[in-house]
Amino acid sequence: MTISHTTSIKQRLEIQRLLEPTLVVSPSAGSDVVKGLTQIPKSLPPRYFYDDRGSDLFEQICELPEYYVTRTETSILQNCASDIAKITGACELVELGSGSSTKTRILLDAYTQQSLPLRYLPIDVSAGILETSAIQLLADYPSLQVHAIAGTYEFALQQIIPRRLPSRMICFLGSTLGNMNPQECDLFFSQIIDGLQVGEYFLLGVDLQKPKHLLEAAYNDSQRVTAAFNLNMLDHLNRRFEGNFDTTQFEHWAFYNESEHQIEMHLKSASSHTVELDALNLSVNFVLGETIRTEISRKFDIENLRQQLTLRGLVPQKVWTDSNNWFGLLLCQLTA
Ligand code: AVJ
Repeated sequence: MTISHTTSIKQRLEIQRLLEPTLVVSPSAGSDVVKGLTQIPKSLPPRYFYDDRGSDLFEQICELPEYYVTRTETSILQNCASDIAKITGACELVELGSGSSTKTRILLDAYTQQSLPLRYLPIDVSAGILETSAIQLLADYPSLQVHAIAGTYEFALQQIIPRRLPSRMICFLGSTLGNMNPQECDLFFSQIIDGLQVGEYFLLGVDLQKPKHLLEAAYNDSQRVTAAFNLNMLDHLNRRFEGNFDTTQFEHWAFYNESEHQIEMHLKSASSHTVELDALNLSVNFVLGETIRTEISRKFDIENLRQQLTLRGLVPQKVWTDSNNWFGLLLCQLTA
């Protein structure tokens, strides 16, 4: 790589680190953990899955034969990316939870092919992954501008980043929306609306309702990668909050709750025992068979979601699915 090339990459890259009050060392750090572990039934926020090892395990999940989610969304994107670019025209892509930006490249390719100027604003909690993937993207897309924001999307959406292109599209892919309960979902949609101007876009990818056996297989893979991903949360908490969770005392448990239309992932205690988290001054008792719910992954009904978004003024202009109707991609536009 020549020096001038390196310089041009640096000139097109900006990385902004947002300090989020609950993430920095402060009296409130871990208050969500204390809250979740002291209530009955016990739960933990899914964001604690994603330390370095957790992010790596998640990338492995995306490749599993049983985990149809990533593969299906990717194939839909490949089919509709050029339509999306035609509809939005030149625009800034704000991606929430961008991770390694693999799926984003499909969109970037479509805009590039239509010679539409592009600015990419990835938002992710991991500054490391942001920087690595931004540098790769800048090398591959010579006219791309990147403004990466390290922080939670709740927090990043509240920050005003001045627009440099005529329009903006917020992308929320991978069915991460499924981690939110209906109330959290509602709050999230208002944050999206606050981040957009009338006429701008919201691209949402959601996993759809389907037979129980298909869903349960996707969260109980035969290689037990999902089990390792679930248990890794305890290792992460041990490191982060000086804990002594013994991962051999917990079992991965995932099932489809049909009445709630959601996969639930739990960690089930194999014995009655006590766990200490010294940094949080917390001591937690478990009885045999007691569980901690680590994640909900809601499965959506397109018509329901379409109505709900429309009521909020985020009107779906286009909805794409795959031939099995397993996954949905909605391109919504904010109306007055
Ligand atoms: C990243 C939240 C969409 O719910 O399918 C994968 C996380 N958990 N396997 C999902 C996950 C277990 C995933 N999301």
